[in-house]
Amino acid sequence: MGDRWYQEAVVYCLDVDTYADSDGDGVGDFQGLIGRLDYLARLGVTCLWLNPIHPSPNKDDGYDATDFYNVDPRLGTLGDFAELLHQAQNRGIRVIIDLVVNHTSDQHPWFQSARSSPDSPYRDWYVWADHEPADRQQGMVFPGEQEETWTYDRTAKAWYYHRFYKFQPDLNIENPKVRAEIKKITSFWLQLGVSGFRMDAVPFIIEKTEPGNPNADKDFDFLTDLRQHVQWRRGDAALLAEANVEPDQLPVYFGDAAGSGNRIHMLFDFMLNGRLMLALARQDPEAIIDALRDTPKLPTGGQWATFLRNHDEIDLSRLTADQRNDVLAKFGPDENMQLYGRGIRRRLAPMLGNDRRHIELAYALQFSLRGTPVLRYGEEIGMGEDLSLDGRDAIRTPMQWSYKDNAGFSTAEPEKLVRPVIDKGEFGYQQVNVTAQRKDPRSLLGWFERMIRTLREAPEIGSGSTTHIDVPVPAGVLAHRADGRTGTMVFLHNLGTEDVEVDLSTLAPEADLPIDVLTDRNYEEVGKLDRLKLAGHGYRWIRLCRGRDL
Ligand code: NOJ
Repeated sequence: MGDRWYQEAVVYCLDVDTYADSDGDGVGDFQGLIGRLDYLARLGVTCLWLNPIHPSPNKDDGYDATDFYNVDPRLGTLGDFAELLHQAQNRGIRVIIDLVVNHTSDQHPWFQSARSSPDSPYRDWYVWADHEPADRQQGMVFPGEQEETWTYDRTAKAWYYHRFYKFQPDLNIENPKVRAEIKKITSFWLQLGVSGFRMDAVPFIIEKTEPGNPNADKDFDFLTDLRQHVQWRRGDAALLAEANVEPDQLPVYFGDAAGSGNRIHMLFDFMLNGRLMLALARQDPEAIIDALRDTPKLPTGGQWATFLRNHDEIDLSRLTADQRNDVLAKFGPDENMQLYGRGIRRRLAPMLGNDRRHIELAYALQFSLRGTPVLRYGEEIGMGEDLSLDGRDAIRTPMQWSYKDNAGFSTAEPEKLVRPVIDKGEFGYQQVNVTAQRKDPRSLLGWFERMIRTLREAPEIGSGSTTHIDVPVPAGVLAHRADGRTGTMVFLHNLGTEDVEVDLSTLAPEADLPIDVLTDRNYEEVGKLDRLKLAGHGYRWIRLCRGRDL
């Protein structure tokens, strides 16, 4: 593993309450997850990202905390969590947790106190206005489910600000006590042994909200301050942030204008995510080539986190209307598959028509593009969604472990489950489960294990630099390369369905014994790189040369 562990990590995102239930109450828990760590180790995961684990009324799946210093009793005790950290560490797996400090639940004792009186010591921990703000109906994140960003509270006799749902009042970042508290929260969990945080909603955390001004300034110094703090508490801790903003605004999240990487270590690459979806929909790599070209330069140590699916809808809002329509037409044609007028609430396998070749292509592509790959639980076996559930719950159904009742997730009565398991059709657990796939080396799970293992042979993807190889290639084909200290990898991915032949002979002078390291099938030897066959939806990961200065 490299000096900066997060650059060569494979991150696996899961929600403890839908992963594995050890005590039969219908809700997944830490003990259940501990029992599945061997599975995750075998898959090749090196870092778990746990969706929120704190006590919560769960009106936004835990992104509405009532106590940042404890765990939701449904998941177990703090002792169970500490045991999870220990057991994960034994297997070389790190754990990061969601840090959701833009807001609290309205049930949080801080907010309850704040609303009770203008003299409450917590009053100024939230953002208030005495009069109705002119921008009250602007900036909603969940259109259709959220009507305003300022809500009148009768008890407080004032308006409070909430960037998200109205039960999620924003904390007032300008209050030094709030800043100190956020740092204390990070200290607590670092002390317990987490390796860092997935920071929720970072552009909103640093917003210096003023009533009536929908475009308030942002306080990036807080990120510098927080990074300093976290790093002094634990030298190798990493921050992975959600900042879904325009690409040209991203560099300042990584570091200051002088070019030092003194803020966030890693940012999710939302721009690439939308363009990957577009490229897959159009069977044309142009959008990915644009993304590679438009990627802002990162300071040393800065890193992208790539993903195809996460726990939210696929956000297509940064595509043009034409582009968005193409993706929706292909992957989310029914209104019921769409969400917030900008996204798709589906998993990848059903979007790709459960076409195994297409699914492999898509994930081979994601895992070969620059950055650290993040994989959502269940994608490794090709789980589907349940569109009869509300909103994002469609893609948050329990993990499908086996043929047993409730997919082996829980022994509870089905009506007691945190969410129903998918038990019908081609994505029902009778068809899609871990037990069946772990026995079969040709399964999607077997493929993921092999593909992830291959990453160990290609560290340039995570820690090197990635560029498009700009030579004439058949339509539908993306050629790119990753260069690093350890050498050069070359990648071919065919987004189209036709078999083709690719000529990369211009790279021959750089090659020493080039060899395929991951392919969708057995191809003829790489040879002089001039006649590289590539099947429809095929891919080839080729080691071009090894570093000479090792
Ligand atoms: C972003 C999270 O990914 C999403 O699930 C959540 O609803 C909002 N932040 C609010 O915390």
